[in-house]
Amino acid sequence: MRFKAIFKKFNLSLFYIMYLFGYTVIAIDLNFENNFWNIRMKNSARGRVDPFIVMDVMEAARQIETLGHEVIHLEVGQPGTGAPTLAKEKVINGLSDTTMGYTVALGIPELREKIADLYWRWYKIKVDPERIIVTPGSSGSFILAFTGLFDVGDTVGIGSPGYPSYRQILKALSLNTCAIKTTSDNKFQPVATDIIDNNLDGLLIASPANPTGSMLNKDELEGLMEACDQKQTVFISDEIYHGIEYDARAVSALEISDDCFVINSFSKYFSMTGWRLGWIVVPDDYIRQFERLAQNLFICAPHISQVAALGALDSHDELNQNLKTYRANRALLIEQLPKMGFKKFAPPDGAFYFYIDVSEYTDNSLNFCKAILEEVRVAITPGIDFDPERGLETVRLSYACSTSDLKKGIRRLNNFMSKYRL
Ligand SMILES: Cc1ncc(COP(=O)(O)O)c(C=O)c1O
Repeated sequence: MRFKAIFKKFNLSLFYIMYLFGYTVIAIDLNFENNFWNIRMKNSARGRVDPFIVMDVMEAARQIETLGHEVIHLEVGQPGTGAPTLAKEKVINGLSDTTMGYTVALGIPELREKIADLYWRWYKIKVDPERIIVTPGSSGSFILAFTGLFDVGDTVGIGSPGYPSYRQILKALSLNTCAIKTTSDNKFQPVATDIIDNNLDGLLIASPANPTGSMLNKDELEGLMEACDQKQTVFISDEIYHGIEYDARAVSALEISDDCFVINSFSKYFSMTGWRLGWIVVPDDYIRQFERLAQNLFICAPHISQVAALGALDSHDELNQNLKTYRANRALLIEQLPKMGFKKFAPPDGAFYFYIDVSEYTDNSLNFCKAILEEVRVAITPGIDFDPERGLETVRLSYACSTSDLKKGIRRLNNFMSKYRL
């Protein structure tokens, strides 16, 4: 502590101190004194989460764009279409009708009823609207679920590769992640033995998954849920990519049991990423606890977005047009990727990503993606975002953009890959 005080008082950095004592300093991390001596303001260890690399790639692409160059965005999982027309109309009319004040914490009752109708439309199951809690994005649902279900130090299993923010949100809440190393034989999804062999407080799965787009069938999902039931492990199902499926329909965990937590969002199928709206379905006896948390953590999800969502839920015809684009883009990539030299991938069952093994070209996917962005101005995501252990040999490519953008991206990637095909 005394060292800290002296450092602070004289505004000394480690560099000067070592210089004064005649030491040779080879390399100094600019943040060294902040991180190591912590002589500035306090910051929490749990808050030191990793960056969300895809957002860093977006920023690097934006900088290239500000220089006047066109970048093709195949990095971010974001539909190129924007909110459906009816959603926008609802907002335009709603703006003059309401003050857009706080809504009740659980969400506008009419919206919760319409979300319940979606479960009937998609899966022919009846879900009590009372069990649906509207949140700021599905990201808000994760915070709600993790705080509502786990205590500091509890462990939650997630499949690796997986959506990067799961483990960072867990860390920020002082929870442990058990990274379940999945394999291509199991479609990069956890299996029942992973739950039996580990003492997990919770398991979080996604089907269709990000980054692989792989989907669990009903038996596989049931197997995982039964194993969780046996081990008293809380089962959380991230169903954000439901509605974007190619051959088979995605199965909801709610078709199997009500003793689970199901998270979804308006970001993907509904094409409303920036509106920040999602929801979680909880068992009856958790409603009040989650309501209290929602009241205190967020007050409510953005009112304007809830109004827009009322329109989005009546927009299936328009949204199904987006699906046609994803289907065409997927077919194009299945045909073109091998011709470019990208041969190691499994066609996605759902969502809008290809997860590609590029180990024959690089052992550093970060540098590989950087070179692609700089040389041919196509943004794609290094696999390290999804799998800290094996992701230096993989990349993820999103095809949620328009087919014309994708064709441009393919031409440019093809040029980049020509040097590897000699
Ligand atoms: C699997 C998965 N879950 C959750 C999210 C978070 O989405 P949002 O907060 O926009 O609903 C994403 C975003 O890409 C995702 O891929």
